[in-house]
Amino acid sequence: MTEQQTIVVTGVAGFIGSNLADRLLAEGHRVIGIDNLAYGVLEQVPSGVDFHQLDIRDHAIFPLIAGADAVFHLAAKNCISDCQQDPLETVSINVWGSVNVFEACAQGRVRKVVYAESSALYEGSAVLPTPESEAAPESFYALSKAAERHFAGGYARYRGLRSTALRYFCVYGPRQDYRRTIPPVMSAFIIKLSRGERPTIYGTGEKRRDFVYVDDVNDFHVQCLVDARTDGGTFNLGSGRSYSVREIFDLVRRLLGSSLEPLYVDDLPGEALATQADISAARALAWEPRTSLEEGLRRSIAYLREHVLGRQVSAAARA
Ligand SMILES: NC(=O)c1ccc[n+]([C@@H]2O[C@H](COP(=O)([O-])OP(=O)(O)OC[C@H]3O[C@@H](n4cnc5c(N)ncnc54)[C@H](O)[C@@H]3O)[C@@H](O)[C@H]2O)c1
Repeated sequence: MTEQQTIVVTGVAGFIGSNLADRLLAEGHRVIGIDNLAYGVLEQVPSGVDFHQLDIRDHAIFPLIAGADAVFHLAAKNCISDCQQDPLETVSINVWGSVNVFEACAQGRVRKVVYAESSALYEGSAVLPTPESEAAPESFYALSKAAERHFAGGYARYRGLRSTALRYFCVYGPRQDYRRTIPPVMSAFIIKLSRGERPTIYGTGEKRRDFVYVDDVNDFHVQCLVDARTDGGTFNLGSGRSYSVREIFDLVRRLLGSSLEPLYVDDLPGEALATQADISAARALAWEPRTSLEEGLRRSIAYLREHVLGRQVSAAARA
């Protein structure tokens, strides 16, 4: 057990933030959570969190952050197509909001901030697996994450704020946002197939993605709290392997015992053909993604059955 720390998590009602809060509470830390519930939901916030419904752009976050041992800054506008539609709001939340968090950390003498970048920073690179040096952001979302990164550098340079940047690839697991118009493939496939409906595949199903289970990502989050070698660093967090969307479909279908075929529709514009992380930098610090794709999918299926599909069945039974 490590020494108890006071840790602020922005975006605590979202997918990664709520899982992280669970882990931090289990490790004995005190967790202060901030989220404006724009995309996250209150029921996902673990009960032990000291929760505040606030926008990261609000000055009211300053007293909550002051004196914390660490801040995990995860709140963001993060749907690439929504960001393409609204670059002004993307900059307002992801750049202005992040700078507000960094300023609160600097003024409040926070020991360290760990913030979320994204594999989207590699949109313009053809190198696979992709090392951290390959950043080539193109979309408004990726550009906003790049700007956040530059400001983190400025706060390190001029205000002595220690930071670590995490470039998540496709994180999956319980509480992944299944409510979006176009949900992430795994939850979309599990929900549709479980209901006996044909899931949609955008494009040919050949696009490849690097999927990493949320508990594995949390292993690195926790390491950032205690491992000074992460200070000032940037780390890809992926599995280092890539699977095609069709391969994921086939695996989910087998695990659910379904024989349904997908519906193929036109591809979504602007999506990378493949992502695959070079995870040597995190591995050099002894981090290793431990959860196999099959095990991670089994756990995701169990979660969706209990929390989403089970409820729909019982609501239908009551009607
Ligand atoms: N999930 C992934 O695979 C993935 C991949 C790459 C990067 N990321 C990054 O990781 C972080 C967490 O992602 P996630 O998947 O948990 O997303 P999520 O959408 O589930 O969670 C983000 C949370 O931030 C909150 N939020 C948004 N705007 C806010 C604001 N102005 N003030 C306060 N709260 C606000 C939302 O309500 C939501 O609860 C994000 O920064 C995202 O860009 C995630």
